[in-house]
Amino acid sequence: MRTQRLDTSPAAMAHAAELLRRGELVAFPTETVYGLGGHALDEAAVAAIFAAKGRPASDPLIVHLAATGDLPLVAATIPALAAQLATAFWPGPLTLILPRHPRVPLAVTAGRETVAVRVPAHPVAHALLVAAGVPVAAPSANRFGHTSPTTADHVLADLDGRIAAVIDGGATPIGIESTVLDCTTTPPTLLRPGGISLEALEAVVGPVQVRTRPTDAEQHGLTSPGLLDRHYAPDHELWLFSGPPATALARLRAEAETLLKAGLRVGVLLPAEDLVLLRDLPVETESLGPASDPAAMAHRLYAALRALDARHPDRILARDLDDAGLGRALRDRLRRAAALVVEV
Ligand code: TXA
Ligand code: MG
Repeated sequence: MRTQRLDTSPAAMAHAAELLRRGELVAFPTETVYGLGGHALDEAAVAAIFAAKGRPASDPLIVHLAATGDLPLVAATIPALAAQLATAFWPGPLTLILPRHPRVPLAVTAGRETVAVRVPAHPVAHALLVAAGVPVAAPSANRFGHTSPTTADHVLADLDGRIAAVIDGGATPIGIESTVLDCTTTPPTLLRPGGISLEALEAVVGPVQVRTRPTDAEQHGLTSPGLLDRHYAPDHELWLFSGPPATALARLRAEAETLLKAGLRVGVLLPAEDLVLLRDLPVETESLGPASDPAAMAHRLYAALRALDARHPDRILARDLDDAGLGRALRDRLRRAAALVVEV
């Protein structure tokens, strides 16, 4: 099967919607990352999503809806707190875990009695969901465990020939995945930091518990496999230096010098102002943009990782970032991308 690259013209969108209704897979842009969409109520389409990604059947999918009003289609009940969050943040980069409606196949939820739901804000995603007229299950449109795609080229690099079509809507604005919040616990539990900050959630619903590292039991029970330690990873090994920025950068520089002396290729992924301090070293660089602008860094992160990967460095070096606001999600993704975290 050749994967069609579609534009966002009304005719192309109508075609994409028809493909979805027929049970075919269509990747599309959302405000966070590109999603690999399939008809959420069609078991064969759902199975095809797992097959195309090489994703284990134990890792549940997010169901995407055109509007908050469609929630009763996929959720058995809507806790008051979830309704408040939907009002505050939908359409937008927030995924809510809710009780599953029996209509949603267990294949979508990996056997759970809960379902992950989100109403995306991207105009192309929204138009596609409206035209399809069905709930659309969509994980990030990458091979399992790989870096999430923020452009149609990234999608094709991972999935060309494995899906019917990708809608090219340009680079995704936020660049990292949605925040995943479990609304079936009291207080609600942050399972994955993302496009909506913890501070913003707490301003609406009060205290939120934060699930940090999964326990072994959870790794095996896979409460939310997005929590698995290594995930969102580049192909080449990434070492992350964590600690006060100046100290982390000094250690990173020393490591780069050692690797260069050994004749190895070194890639560095850093805020722009850090790169200036390394400009005397013959390293491959990708800038995240200004350290003072976490939104800009999030927008760049995955594209920068892929760009570095494409230059085949023996090792990629990065440093931890400040974790306020969107920074929490950035730091989370860097940690998952890392083969090793060096505490300085
Ligand atoms: O921004 C996003 O969320 C993107 C776009 C396409 O919407 N999607 C995305 O999907 O990142 P995916 O499949 O890559 O990540 C979904 C995360 C996984 O960590 C999964 O384990 C978790 O949500 N999840 C899904 N259903 C769940 C459930 N019922 N309980 C707990 N975690 C769940
Ligand atoms: Mg993913």
